[in-house]
Amino acid sequence: MGAEKKLVIGLFGFGVVGEGLYKILKQTPSLKASIKKVCIKNTTKKRNAPPELFTSDMYDILNDPEINVVVEVINDSVVGFEIVSNALKNGKDVVSASKKMLSEHLPELIDLQNSTGRSLLYEASSCASIPIIRNLEEYYDNDLLHSIKAIVNGSTNFILTKMFEDQLNFKEALLLAQQLGFAESDPRLDIEGFDAVSKWILLLTHSYGISSTIDDLLFNGIAQIHELDAGVAQARNQSIKLVAQAKKLLNGKVATFLLPQFIDHNDQLYFVKNEYNGVVIESGFSDKQFFYGKGAGSFPTASAVLSDISALRYSYRYEYKKKNQQTPAELSSDFHLRIYISFKSLADIPKEEFSSVEEWHSGNERSYLIGTMPFTSLLHKDWWKKNGTSLILMPDPIIEDMDIKELKKMSLSLAGLEI
Ligand code: HSE
Repeated sequence: MGAEKKLVIGLFGFGVVGEGLYKILKQTPSLKASIKKVCIKNTTKKRNAPPELFTSDMYDILNDPEINVVVEVINDSVVGFEIVSNALKNGKDVVSASKKMLSEHLPELIDLQNSTGRSLLYEASSCASIPIIRNLEEYYDNDLLHSIKAIVNGSTNFILTKMFEDQLNFKEALLLAQQLGFAESDPRLDIEGFDAVSKWILLLTHSYGISSTIDDLLFNGIAQIHELDAGVAQARNQSIKLVAQAKKLLNGKVATFLLPQFIDHNDQLYFVKNEYNGVVIESGFSDKQFFYGKGAGSFPTASAVLSDISALRYSYRYEYKKKNQQTPAELSSDFHLRIYISFKSLADIPKEEFSSVEEWHSGNERSYLIGTMPFTSLLHKDWWKKNGTSLILMPDPIIEDMDIKELKKMSLSLAGLEI
């Protein structure tokens, strides 16, 4: 596509993001891009745009030879995949914000980009307004990327902020997140961690070249966080955030998980509040770098879509360098996690799985333990999601095997704690 070529867009979806893009494009004439048609499911709903713009037939866009860019921002991942794959096959470049669809179909979509020679860009799918995918793709070599930790879901961060700082209860905070257009149409996707893990699958691909599925990853949302946990965080001058994290271990493999975590007040992520997202990258020789920006909402998400549309003018494509040109990193299970766990009854906790215990607080209604546990005691296990149990990672939670030997020596004796 030549630098001066006019972009004629077919847009799928006119919800929070689609309408935001429509408004932003009207204010950005220099981009030389215009929306020719918008495909929507419900044509009877009143829209803030001329009625002749709309269709409910996807082939009005997919088969229109004048349309050279398809923008897909719908909620349905099955239909989304059909649209995106057909658009690529029909010779159109595509911009998508559908994290669930992309995370479920990335290998096929990479193959389709290769076989059609078209480009699929999806910066808006992860951390909305933060240009994190393009940075991971272009700037950070796999070998230089020591670790990445991120808040990737705006709604859960918004809810936690409102609960911690404005004393709203969970339901009130969620309702507000829905009213402001941050939450998914099914908000369980946000609060149970599914939205965040979809984004994390995409970011792992661009960070380390790792292809993963939801079944490979240890993750949870924020639904199990208890008032007691919030009190413990506040007493320690910490907050609780839903954090995705990956780190290269000494064995060269990558440890990764996405769980609630206690965050120290001097951690960059501590300052990420409300619907904002944040990404802290540690790389060789440059120490820490911090990306910060709105992670949900109409204009912030549409701005990332706009930037992808703009990049298509100079034929920008992801090269998936870390997957294709280097040896992709592998996931590791060979590490321990430093965890806090609160529970109603000790009988629900497999205490023999702890590799060390640092603290044990027994209460009438609820108790908690802080200690370390092998990653494999949590991955693909569900004891820690049942019976009102709440698992939260401690700051700097990764303990490699070498360190655990030291920790064991220092650890309080399990027998002495009478647990
Ligand atoms: N529900 C998502 C969030 C929207 O809260 O982050 C942005 O992807």
